[in-house]
Amino acid sequence: MSARVAVVMGSDSDWPVMKAAADVLAEAGVEFDADIVSAHRTPDKMFAFAKDARSNGYQAIIAGAGGAAHLPGMIASVTTLPVIGVPIALKQLDGMDSLLSIVQMPSGVPVATVGIGQAKNAGLLALRILSTTDESVAAWLQKFSSTQRDAVLDKKLD
Ligand code: RP5
Repeated sequence: MSARVAVVMGSDSDWPVMKAAADVLAEAGVEFDADIVSAHRTPDKMFAFAKDARSNGYQAIIAGAGGAAHLPGMIASVTTLPVIGVPIALKQLDGMDSLLSIVQMPSGVPVATVGIGQAKNAGLLALRILSTTDESVAAWLQKFSSTQRDAVLDKKLD
């Protein structure tokens, strides 16, 4: 089976954060590709990736970047697939630069932006998108939700 979700990021330094998206996709049994695609350092690769993403079989793209985080928005400008942006915090500005760079897209070019560093939520949102046409992903999400609920209900305060 070919990969259904692309997990891309501006640098290998983003991977420790972005791995959480890949991990939750793997837990759900959804095939994905992970790669470094930089809007600023490898623009030709980024355009080629985004242009061919739909014909390559991807149903959603998760894109993480930090600082002047143009990757998710530029990908969304080239493809009509859903793009989920993950703002990554760098040493300066606590990730607010990344967040605002990703979330403040112009009208007509949406990027679904998760919280700073919240790559797991990006993975879960991609799964929710896939679940609209995939019963097994919908069932996995239901189980995930029930497990999470039970874990909270079981918690006791000292
Ligand atoms: C961004 O620049 C990347 O997404 C990364 O968050 C940041 C720093 O990259 P490196 O200098 O660590 O490669 O484009």
